[in-house]
Amino acid sequence: MGDKGTVWLPEAGSALAGEIDALFYFVYWVSVVIFVGVVAAMVYFTWKYRRRSAAERPEPVHESKLLEMTWIVVPTILVLIVFTWGFRLYLDLGVAPPDAYEIRVTGKKWLWEFEYPNGTTTVGELVVPANRPVKLQMSSEDVIHSFFVPAFRVKQDVLPNRYTSVWFEAARADTFQVFCTEYCGTQHSGMLARVVSMPQESFDDWVESGGGSLEELPPAEAGELLYSRLGCNACHSVDGSRMVGPTFQGLYGKEGHAMADGSTVVADENYLRQSILQPGAQVVEGYPNVMPASYANLTEDEVSALIAYIESLQ
Ligand code: CUA
Repeated sequence: MGDKGTVWLPEAGSALAGEIDALFYFVYWVSVVIFVGVVAAMVYFTWKYRRRSAAERPEPVHESKLLEMTWIVVPTILVLIVFTWGFRLYLDLGVAPPDAYEIRVTGKKWLWEFEYPNGTTTVGELVVPANRPVKLQMSSEDVIHSFFVPAFRVKQDVLPNRYTSVWFEAARADTFQVFCTEYCGTQHSGMLARVVSMPQESFDDWVESGGGSLEELPPAEAGELLYSRLGCNACHSVDGSRMVGPTFQGLYGKEGHAMADGSTVVADENYLRQSILQPGAQVVEGYPNVMPASYANLTEDEVSALIAYIESLQ
C-alpha cells in the first residue's frame, strides 16, 4: 500500500483519481487565495479608516461600478469553471466504459463479498485486473453500507433491495484499502477489505482456478484460504485479539473452554466441527450467538481443512 499520499488522501491509484485531485486542488487553492485576499483587505482597511478623533465625521460612501462588476464577474466565472469541470468528472465517474469487467459485490454485517462471472467468490479481498475498467454491481443483504476506496477516490452507498454501481481502473498492480463508510452497527469500523490488482494474465489464472485451487493444497493451507474466502476472518482473529467471535489462536485442544450455559468443553475436532456446522449449539461464554447457520452446507473436506488450519494456530 502506497503511503506517499497527502494529508487529505492516500496516493492516487486509479485512472480518474488524478483528475479528481486536480479539481480538488483547483477549488482548494482558489479558496486559499480568496481567503488571504479578503482577510488582508479587511485588516488593511480597518487600519486605514480607523477613527482619528472624536470629532471625525465620515464621508458618505459612493458606489463604484467597476468594483461591483469585478466582484460579480470574477466569482461567477470561477463558479462556472468548477461546475462544468465537476459535472464532466461526475459523468465520467458515474458511467462505466462498456467494456468494463463486472464483479458482484454484497455488503453484509460485517464483511464484503465479491462474486466473479464464473462463480469464484471471495470475502474481504477484491482481486481485479490492473489497467482495465472494473464495474462493481453492489447490493446489501441487511442495512445500508458504503463502499469506499480512498486511493481510487470512489465511494458509493450499498443498499438493500436495490443495485448501485461504481467503477474504477486500477492504475498499477498494488494493494488498496477498502472501508465501509456508512455506520452499520457495532463492527462497522472493522468492515474492511482489500483491492488486489494484478496484471491481466495473472488475474485470468487466478479467477479460472477459483481464486486458488483448494484440492492441491495441504489441509491447513486450504483451511487458511477458506478462512478468508468464507469470511471467517470478519469475526475470528488468528492473533489472539478479540473480535465479534472468539479468536482461533490457541483454541485447538483448549481444556475447560467455558460455555454460556456454564458448562466447559475440550476444544477438540468434534467441538470445532459442531461449532462450524451448528454455531448455536454451544456458545462460548461472553460472546453473542450471532454466527450465521449458513456454514452448515460446507463439504466434509472444507470442514476438515478449516479444523486443520485452526489446529495449526497454536
Ligand atoms: Cu458496513 Cu459500516
